[in-house]
Amino acid sequence: MSGVGARRPVIAIDGVAGSGKSTLAAALGRHLGLPRLDTGAMYRAVTLEALREGLIQPDGTDASTNEEALAALAASLALVLGDRVLVAGEDVSAAIRTPEVDRAVSAVAACPKVRAELVRRQRAWVVEHGGGVVEGRDIGTVVLPDATVKVFLVADPAVRAARRAGQLGTTPAAVAGAMGERDLQDSRRRASPLVPAEGAHLLDTTERSVEDLVAEISGWL
Ligand code: DC
Repeated sequence: MSGVGARRPVIAIDGVAGSGKSTLAAALGRHLGLPRLDTGAMYRAVTLEALREGLIQPDGTDASTNEEALAALAASLALVLGDRVLVAGEDVSAAIRTPEVDRAVSAVAACPKVRAELVRRQRAWVVEHGGGVVEGRDIGTVVLPDATVKVFLVADPAVRAARRAGQLGTTPAAVAGAMGERDLQDSRRRASPLVPAEGAHLLDTTERSVEDLVAEISGWL
């Protein structure tokens, strides 16, 4: 469906946490003059609100039993996604990236009904913008299988932990365990597991500069 009415290219970027998706998506967006959608921020915003409203336990283990309520929340949340992430007018850009949200978000993202709502909103975003750079875990496989270019990023686990620690202002050792756990949950879940899409370009970002990656991907358009 992504091609319908698209006036601009659609670039799908998937990959594990810390593989450099956000940095690459932002740089690509700037280079090509395309808007960018961070779909992970959507799952995080739903998780933050669910935690605040007491819909789920801090570890998210009861997410599947409260799936209906979570899906209703995903459908109704007044989300604005841009340089900052707003929920009902409140800037939650920092609040969605805390260890508390990290801990519960995979369980929320494993709920098929939550995914269905957010996928619907993600496709609507692409139609509204006529294309763009969309980053996540299932963009090339589920959300936008007809994307102009699909990219799947991988990177050395130590480098990924260092990047994530840098974002959080902590040490790689402090984040490595939780990151590995989240990767496992994301890739083993039944609903839209994290796997490379058919036709996706596999890119290892461990020793590549952002400029280099942007140049290579732009050459595929
Ligand atoms: O990319 P991130 O770390 O902000 O993603 C947060 C969580 O949401 C992570 O557990 C994976 C999940 N996610 C997903 O299941 N599908 C997406 N399209 C994006 C993120």
